[in-house]
Amino acid sequence: MNVAIVGAGKVGSVLGKILATRGAKIVAVVSRTNASAARAGKYLRCRNVSTSLAAIPPKTDLVLIATPHSAVEEVAYKLTAIAHLEFKRLSVCHASGTLTADALVPLAKKGASVFSFHPLQTFPRDFGPAEILPTVRGIYYGVDGSKKGIAVAGVLAKKLGGKVLVVKPEMRKFYHAACVVASNHLTTMLWILEQMFGALKTNEKKFFPVFEPIMQAALRNAARTSPAKSLSGPIARGGVETVAGHFESVKKFAPELVPYFAALSAETTRLAEAKGSIEKDRAEKLFNLIRSITN
Ligand SMILES: NC(=O)c1ccc[n+]([C@@H]2O[C@H](COP(=O)([O-])OP(=O)(O)OC[C@H]3O[C@@H](n4cnc5c(N)ncnc54)[C@H](OP(=O)(O)O)[C@@H]3O)[C@@H](O)[C@H]2O)c1
Repeated sequence: MNVAIVGAGKVGSVLGKILATRGAKIVAVVSRTNASAARAGKYLRCRNVSTSLAAIPPKTDLVLIATPHSAVEEVAYKLTAIAHLEFKRLSVCHASGTLTADALVPLAKKGASVFSFHPLQTFPRDFGPAEILPTVRGIYYGVDGSKKGIAVAGVLAKKLGGKVLVVKPEMRKFYHAACVVASNHLTTMLWILEQMFGALKTNEKKFFPVFEPIMQAALRNAARTSPAKSLSGPIARGGVETVAGHFESVKKFAPELVPYFAALSAETTRLAEAKGSIEKDRAEKLFNLIRSITN
């Protein structure tokens, strides 16, 4: 598989590296600036680095567009003008979570197989590709596209050691919102925990080792059964007075966290009701308490 990477950032470098170690040939690395293209080229052991899409050789099988989503359509449009590309043998995908394969329509019109190929993983800016790489094994890729495009996506995902998650185009933004919940909201929750732990001023310095066992158990329990089955704690038991006490202390020691605590307490109440561990009237008492705090 001859692969050209367009967009020499975190995603392009990491996916390119895995493909290269699994037998694909990286035939070109194209980026906005020479510096990024050269850095990624060195990492991927590809000498053909450029800021011009014309550097992509004719016998390329796959172009992976890993630019920011705002540049994907422009890149796709510019690729159609590269006369030496053999579009009928070419597959083109982009890594954006929010865009569908529609962003690549001009290439599909030229005969290329097109698909979206969103790695369902976090590639943090402050982390190097080598640090991110191990986290990308066995992940899902959110895809949509033509029948042939989805089939190529399956082959590509397999080559990367992952699997495809076929997402209906009309659900793409909702899918991306779910990814935000899984990654960014979880990270924000950890930051909140870090702040709450800081306010506790205990004998321990770092919050993570303290909370890691309970967080790992919550993840493991939910994975093994379901979120509803694994819910424990005061809301699941309908402990209105305990929850009221929590609100008082959050208001006192971290008032900026009251909206977060209220929103998540309301969702936890809905979950406890769905679990069947509290009756409707108890849930109503909890909702009233939450409303009284936030109003
Ligand atoms: N970061 C994540 O967690 C994550 C996860 C899944 C999917 N994605 C998606 O993957 C894509 C890439 O994300 P990333 O995190 O790898 O971004 P990134 O690190 O910012 O890299 C994007 C690269 O694209 C290059 N670029 C910008 N405009 C270009 C253009 N017109 N032509 C060619 N190259 C161009 C930039 O080049 P220069 O450096 O030369 O300016 C940069 O190196 C995005 O669509 C993103 O939504 C990201």
